[in-house]
Amino acid sequence: MAKPSIAFTCTECGTAHKKWAGRCDSCGAWNSIIEEAPLSQGPGRGLGAAKGRAVPLSGLSTKDAPPPRGHSGLAELDRVLGGGLVPGSAVLVGGDPGIGKSTLLLQAAAAFARGGQNAIYISGEEASAQVRMRAQRLGLADAPVRLGAETNLRDILTTLDQERPDLAIIDSVQTLWSDTVEAAPGSVAQVRAAAHELVTFAKRRGVAVILVGHVTKDGQIAGPRVVEHMVDTVLYFEGERGHQFRILRSVKNRFGPADEIGVFEMTGGGLAEVANPSALFLSERGQPSPGSAVFAGIEGTRPVLTEVQALVAPSTLASPRRTVVGLDSGRVSTILAVLEARCGIPFAGLDVFLNVAGGMRVQEPAADLAIAAALLSAREDNALPAEAVLFGEISLSGALRPVAQAENRLKEAQKLGFSQAILPDGQKIEGAGGMTRRQIADLTGFVGEIFGAG
Ligand code: TYD
Ligand code: MG
Repeated sequence: MAKPSIAFTCTECGTAHKKWAGRCDSCGAWNSIIEEAPLSQGPGRGLGAAKGRAVPLSGLSTKDAPPPRGHSGLAELDRVLGGGLVPGSAVLVGGDPGIGKSTLLLQAAAAFARGGQNAIYISGEEASAQVRMRAQRLGLADAPVRLGAETNLRDILTTLDQERPDLAIIDSVQTLWSDTVEAAPGSVAQVRAAAHELVTFAKRRGVAVILVGHVTKDGQIAGPRVVEHMVDTVLYFEGERGHQFRILRSVKNRFGPADEIGVFEMTGGGLAEVANPSALFLSERGQPSPGSAVFAGIEGTRPVLTEVQALVAPSTLASPRRTVVGLDSGRVSTILAVLEARCGIPFAGLDVFLNVAGGMRVQEPAADLAIAAALLSAREDNALPAEAVLFGEISLSGALRPVAQAENRLKEAQKLGFSQAILPDGQKIEGAGGMTRRQIADLTGFVGEIFGAG
């Protein structure tokens, strides 16, 4: 057999490389490429070696009703799953170590079990006693969850095959090892093999499988991105360590909208659901202060108001600082360049710090106007109107472009007591009266209107 040419794999994204490199040119991660023996192709496995079986083909129409979804009783989790857990689906829950994945899934397992579903929780990281102690602390000890501590994939599959639960949670996929793969647990080959077996099992037996995957900084351990393409739904649990808010975000969902978020608060008694995130993210707002702008955003299907905060200060550095938390830094650089080139407002020689309050992450281009407003307000040391929310995309010419779902944004803002909206001129709005609307054509117009200078 010819020597396989692929011997290096990126532990971040799983891309195969012919030779080692310091940086993966597929995902851009540094130091993530490791040497790894490729899965051997047994003799006779090549195409054409054996005659295949004809696959039965069928039409698209069906008379079957969609399968009932399992509801966890955690409304925020059900929302992110697209309305509950689909039987036979495979879900990946990724996130930094210590962010609260095990806590969330133990609570979910308990909620499913209390709702009459057969839930199994397999922990590969903690001993059963540890998980039991956590359950006790969370007040879940009475929930009929069945618990196992195991890392051997073969044993886990045998157990699940015997028990046929409705739901199996595997915490985490990086601890599993299969005796058919010659590689260390946590390597790309092991993680892929384990995920593949479990996903196949989920489909075959109609068991919903939830896999936990740690986002890793260490190049030797495969990250959750390696299995993203195998599962039906990919959720990321994110948040700042210092903040108590946690956001569960769906980045891929075959059974519902992606980009949906669920908001939780980490408390002494576990994760508490936050039904009204806007109120929470704005709760720290006091008096109107320079550098603060309220963005009326949309996360998935839900409007969420967040506060963009900016600080601009003289810099002593040759290339001033651009510290951005919770926003896309490329986007921020673009907005700074537009402010400079189109409005003649320089930020050279100034350190810029930008932040989204509460540990929220905002990715919508609709946040452009709020970012620009926060930057200008900080630079001019002039507070924006306290009763105003903003949204709108900024083009490279400095023009403000309309964005989607303006009515929902306005309704949410009104619900939270805001009376004014600053938005693009071209934005068409039906209904949602009661808010004063200041519609502005471009960034220069915005500077003139809000700060009284051109
Ligand atoms: P954990 O679920 O173990 O994180 P992961 O599985 O993502 O690694 O959560 C660990 C953190 O959560 C830990 O630092 C303590 C905190 N925590 C609370 O604040 N309250 C609680 O009730 C629990 C169970 C954990
Ligand atoms: Mg854990």
